[in-house]
Amino acid sequence: MENNQNNNSELKGKVALVTGGTKGIGKAIADRLGQAGATVIIIARNGPVDNLYGHHFIQADLVKAEEAAPVIAGILQKFGTVDILINNMGGSSSPSGGFSTLTDEHWENDLRLNLLAPARVDREVLPTMLEKKNGVIIHISSVSGIIPIWESLGAYAVAKAALINYSKSLSKEVSSKGVRVLTVSPGMVKTETMSNYLQTLADEAGITIEDSTDAAMKSLGGIPMGRMANPEDVAELVGYLVSPRASYLSGANYIIDGGTNPTV
Ligand SMILES: NC(=O)c1ccc[n+]([C@@H]2O[C@H](COP(=O)([O-])OP(=O)(O)OC[C@H]3O[C@@H](n4cnc5c(N)ncnc54)[C@H](OP(=O)(O)O)[C@@H]3O)[C@@H](O)[C@H]2O)c1
Repeated sequence: MENNQNNNSELKGKVALVTGGTKGIGKAIADRLGQAGATVIIIARNGPVDNLYGHHFIQADLVKAEEAAPVIAGILQKFGTVDILINNMGGSSSPSGGFSTLTDEHWENDLRLNLLAPARVDREVLPTMLEKKNGVIIHISSVSGIIPIWESLGAYAVAKAALINYSKSLSKEVSSKGVRVLTVSPGMVKTETMSNYLQTLADEAGITIEDSTDAAMKSLGGIPMGRMANPEDVAELVGYLVSPRASYLSGANYIIDGGTNPTV
């Protein structure tokens, strides 16, 4: 989706780090922040498959502490700072089927990727933000952190719930020191990974991807807007939250799910 509304340079002079910025939601966020004038650094394990739009790409597996720490230190040394940190990377490779299918390894993998890695990246970046008394950190969680979906995303949902809690806790700690910390929790977003996930569910159940999509929407209680989000929908929210226009916002969890979450 083309988004031409945000070439307003409001992030000019800012350095933004987007973890997992090569695909899906992370790529849309990286492009959105770049459009607003930020210098954008993206980290992923594999090189970007298409246009970098001038972003700086750094290869690293952020689940591995021994790779993450030197990579972040190198970024801080080269760019002098990170003003905006988008802890976007995440996901799950655990099988569906509920509690009995989840081994310790599945639990550990989902917790490492969705909770420990973002907390590690925060730990590396925060001292510089605190020194400058300025910065914004966004954690990309998921609506499944609020609406448990036992059928398919048990361990992932728990890790995302923990991320929401941790994000709140961190905001309590550092908001008074000039660093805003926020969570964004998307519902279903049309990314390649989401398509693969829906295809896997379809294959497991012997149904079509249309039917597995319908079933996934129903397992969340339905999406009142009748469609998945586009990655750009999430990027637009993030673009606002990191901007000076959102300078009083910290500690909140922004759900972007087309009306899915049924609670107040
Ligand atoms: N799509 C959805 O419907 C949805 C809904 C709610 C929440 N979310 C959350 O939104 C975020 C983005 O989701 P997405 O669907 O856009 O994901 P995606 O398309 O699978 O992209 C994930 C990104 O993270 C990178 N990555 C994965 N593991 C990494 C690692 N160990 N170290 C460094 N980079 C790593 C990937 O690149 P490499 O594989 O090359 O490393 C890729 O750039 C995730 O936190 C996800 O849980 C997604």
